[in-house]
Amino acid sequence: MPEPATPATPVTFPPAFLWGAATSAYQIEGAVREGGRTPSIWDTFSHTPGKTAGGEHGDIAVDHYHRYRDDVAMMADLGLNAYRFSISWSRVQPTGRGPAVQVGLDFYRRLVDELLAVGIKPAVTLYHWDLPQELEDAGGWPERDTAYRFAEYAQIVGEALGDRVEQWITLNEPWCSAFLGYASGVHAPGRTDPAASLKAAHHLNLAHGLATSALRSAMPARNSVALSLNSSVVRPVSQDPADLAAARKIDDLANGVFHGPILHGAYPESLFAATELITDWSYVEDGDLRAINQPLDALGLNYYTPALVSAADNDLSGPRADGHGASAFSPWPGADDVAFHQTPGERTEMGWSIDPTGLHELIMRYTREAPGLPLYITENGAAYDDKPDPDGRVHDPERISYLHGHLAAVRRAVSDGADVRGYYLWSLMDNFEWAYGYEKRFGAVYVDYATLARTPKSSALWYGQAARTGTLPPVAAAE
Ligand code: FCB
Repeated sequence: MPEPATPATPVTFPPAFLWGAATSAYQIEGAVREGGRTPSIWDTFSHTPGKTAGGEHGDIAVDHYHRYRDDVAMMADLGLNAYRFSISWSRVQPTGRGPAVQVGLDFYRRLVDELLAVGIKPAVTLYHWDLPQELEDAGGWPERDTAYRFAEYAQIVGEALGDRVEQWITLNEPWCSAFLGYASGVHAPGRTDPAASLKAAHHLNLAHGLATSALRSAMPARNSVALSLNSSVVRPVSQDPADLAAARKIDDLANGVFHGPILHGAYPESLFAATELITDWSYVEDGDLRAINQPLDALGLNYYTPALVSAADNDLSGPRADGHGASAFSPWPGADDVAFHQTPGERTEMGWSIDPTGLHELIMRYTREAPGLPLYITENGAAYDDKPDPDGRVHDPERISYLHGHLAAVRRAVSDGADVRGYYLWSLMDNFEWAYGYEKRFGAVYVDYATLARTPKSSALWYGQAARTGTLPPVAAAE
């Protein structure tokens, strides 16, 4: 059942709660050839005909690289007290190896200083999908060396920013990097090789573990290291044993493949069984699981919509309704016997059903699985077809209702004993939504792509009021 839109009692959060917004480098920065930056896999992919809607790319994006001061001032005006952004690896270490480029690091130093000056707490994500192209040319994530390169890059950034940034996230949604990047191919680098995708997953895990150690050696002990998982809430269509088995398989491929080694130091045995025809996992070397299973200070959860699955015949054809873009190739290696179904309920512009109970379920799951680990919702939000009214204002009541429902679900989880310390709305402003180009607007702030002017939507004002007061305003408050 959806959360009630207008609860009788006000929904109030603890005073130290972080009210943030999130972005990522390639989606907002632009300036792709400035300061010695070289192409990442997303530059290459988006400039390859047919890979993104309308051939769109991040060359200019929303020009945040040049407008960051105004963007920070805008966040401060809205009342946000936290901001999650990612570092472009190609800006800091253009070839993915060797010495750092100070001009690149200086951009992030200035951004962080600007945030701190207005009381906004920065959270840095080291990797939000934009691998330097040279590393992909050398084999990409299926290649073990990429994990070592990532640890070196983490050390560089930790040394440069560790004095002023307390919150660190190694990887954003490694599931997307591994399985959309190397299995279904709807994301960069666009490969469709199931065996490579599982290898990529292991090397992303290793990269996370090695980078966590590197950050700890490079930074003051007070800093917090986490990662952001897009852990799926997987629901079977029925309690039939075959459907339950399908749900368990997808749970292994979506969640267990990452939180198994990262949180518990082991891959699920059932994952090996599900993928035995594709890979023998012989690239998991002695000592890898210990390197991956580093103690963390927090866990980031990204949530948009649940998945509904059943058992299916192997001869299923056509694109699947799993919400991850159309491709003849599945992002679920070893799961040809699983079918994905449309989840019930209203949908956002992405076609994703709106279900805040999934967020509550996810938080409670990790509260049980990782007891004592503080949680952050590092992404949650919705795309809508927003347009300015004749008076220039942008009204997005659907987004307000989405945010209200999901924040109320977070609050309910806190009441149920979960240690959720903050929420980062995806996204601060409209931006380059990967293979969908600029078509899908996730921003709380509207961007006019002709002028790049920013206009806070009514949801931004609503969210700002929540951030300033610690209490969710009624859904109609900002209209
Ligand atoms: C997440 C990504 C983020 C954005 C949202 C809609 O999977 O981390 O960059 O694309 O989805």
